[in-house]
Amino acid sequence: MLQTILPERLTRLSDTEMDARIRAARAELGGRLVILGHHYQRDEVIKFADVRGDSFKLAQWAASRKDAEYIIFCGVHFMAESADVLSADYQKVLLPDMSAGCSMADMAEIDQVETCWEDLERVTSEQIIPITYMNSAASIKAFCGRNDGAVCTSSNAPAVMRWALERSRKILFLPDQHLGRNTAYSLGLRLEEMVVWDPYEEFGGNTAETLKNSRIILWKGHCSVHQRFLPQHVAQVRSSYPGIRVIAHPECRFEVVQLSDDVGSTEHIIKCLTQSPAGTKWAVGTEIHLVNRLKKENPDRFVIPLDDCGCLCSTMFRIDPAHLLWSLENLLEGQVVNQITVPADVVASARVALNRMLEIAL
Ligand code: 13P
Ligand code: SF4
Repeated sequence: MLQTILPERLTRLSDTEMDARIRAARAELGGRLVILGHHYQRDEVIKFADVRGDSFKLAQWAASRKDAEYIIFCGVHFMAESADVLSADYQKVLLPDMSAGCSMADMAEIDQVETCWEDLERVTSEQIIPITYMNSAASIKAFCGRNDGAVCTSSNAPAVMRWALERSRKILFLPDQHLGRNTAYSLGLRLEEMVVWDPYEEFGGNTAETLKNSRIILWKGHCSVHQRFLPQHVAQVRSSYPGIRVIAHPECRFEVVQLSDDVGSTEHIIKCLTQSPAGTKWAVGTEIHLVNRLKKENPDRFVIPLDDCGCLCSTMFRIDPAHLLWSLENLLEGQVVNQITVPADVVASARVALNRMLEIAL
């Protein structure tokens, strides 16, 4: 579904008028609505979120709170899809701007994944467990549900991978090669036991022999925001700010994660930083809106982005106050705009994979 161009009467509002109208519409909708906000949302939007969180926390919320009729998801498309899968049938999930996608999620298409699976089944009779990162389309989650696999997020990837390794020695990890590699390595697997599957190459760019011997097959996907952080950025901040602690999101490259002091989801990053003693210095390898917010909310700590250009997630940025207001005022008029509806046949299997993730302890 394409995003409708917003009427000028909304886009021309001053910041003060915009805020006042959002607040008024939100108040009128009361308990019928909940606004979920991912940590990468801009300040002008996140301030209206009833619940803030990483992908895991927001998915848990969507699965457990059946009281709100409407869920406005200030985040990206795959998050809203997951909320639709996990919420009750009577709840409606809205994404304020339909162009808020995720380039990483787009790197794995269901037809490519099915082809990969058929090829793998041809080279090995061993059981393979598919794990998909939350940052993927609902159809890929459904594929994992159908094939005894699970979903993971950046906060529970080690637990989900451990769960899979208790059942099989072979995993297909979709679509983020970095999260897959970082997680498998942290669990003691060697880099030589991992191969990358390039969907645009015959056999993923591998031989039957290497596929047969490998334990972790990493889909060739990445986050363009996190992949920009490089080992030299770690070296630079360490030499400029002696004693600085480097914390990275696990979507960063393996080399960057290896050089960091800590690694974890957005929620983990926030927790580590806010619980550190005053005066601690931090270089943070994640999206710039979260880094700037951490800096602002922790004036007694020194916080900088890991690189000096400050990587922005342009799709998270699509959600702005005007689109939020447009969604809210339409709801007040009885119109549900930008509803995210996952087809029923996909919902059933995607729910299996998502529920498996929720059942696996962190
Ligand atoms: P978190 O689950 O850590 O919030 O990450 C989501 C995401 O898209 C990071 O790029
Ligand atoms: Fe996708 Fe990267 Fe943006 Fe996260 S930061 S939503 S993985 S593009």
